[in-house]
Amino acid sequence: MEDNRPFGRPPPPLRYPMDQHDTPNDPAAATVTPVAARGLTKHYPAGKTFKTVLDGVDLTIAAEESVALLGRSGSGKSTLLNLLAGIDRPDDGELILLGRPLHRLAEGDRTLMRRRHLGFIYQAFNLIPTLTAAENVGLPLELNGWSRDATTRRVESLLAELDLHQAGDAFPDRLSGGEQQRVAIARALAHDPALVLADEPTGNLDSVTGGHVLELLLARARRGGQALLVVTHSLAVARQADRMVVLEDGRLTAGGAELAW
Ligand SMILES: Nc1ncnc2c1ncn2[C@@H]1O[C@H](COP(=O)(O)OP(=O)(O)OP(=O)(O)O)[C@@H](O)[C@H]1O
Ligand SMILES: [Mg+2]
Repeated sequence: MEDNRPFGRPPPPLRYPMDQHDTPNDPAAATVTPVAARGLTKHYPAGKTFKTVLDGVDLTIAAEESVALLGRSGSGKSTLLNLLAGIDRPDDGELILLGRPLHRLAEGDRTLMRRRHLGFIYQAFNLIPTLTAAENVGLPLELNGWSRDATTRRVESLLAELDLHQAGDAFPDRLSGGEQQRVAIARALAHDPALVLADEPTGNLDSVTGGHVLELLLARARRGGQALLVVTHSLAVARQADRMVVLEDGRLTAGGAELAW
């Protein structure tokens, strides 16, 4: 008989509502495949018709795996990340995130999922300008209900790890681009997410600073056992990940060394 299960094995039992059963550092979450996406499709309206940006994207990211996502501008990389983050919904396809069918979760559960298990890093840092670096890093912990003491300890250790000892009390506009992006990385990793999504995290940095920041991100994600999907236009950056994939004509394919964006 044909095996119709989308990923060969059934997902682990679902535990709803997430609010009651999901703790911020749920050990079960760490052992589940972070991303199992099959046939993801996304259309956007274009005049009287629509444009298909993602046309059946399949992607699996294993626990602790780092994957670089390459593709020309407009190929749909940010669209894909937004689907994986639950910020946007696919028009078709299956998206099992840490064992849970994200495409079928209610808005509230998707928000909780994002808050507890995902870290997101943007090209433009997106730090909150009215909070200090340390407060920015501590924000996800506060939202997840950490105590003040535990938050302070965690923030201090992350800032030290990312070579930001002096930066904790500074507001973002007093930090260099590389420093701001390291604060953004610390913020994305603070709550020990199982999956980190980074959308061109080095796009606003010079190549030397960008390379350094990406090394830190990869090293820190590896040490923390986090899976990482990082969008980049740099082949040098992409080569540092465990694996490369390329988005082209709405489909995802395995990347090779001949690619350059
Ligand atoms: N909200 C939207 N409404 C309509 N079209 C959209 C929307 N968001 C994205 N698009 C279109 O979808 C396509 C893919 O956009 P996306 O931002 O995902 O590309 P990208 O690969 O991230 O590009 P870049 O490398 O420039 O960041 C583009 O043609 C874009 O114009
Ligand atoms: Mg983009």
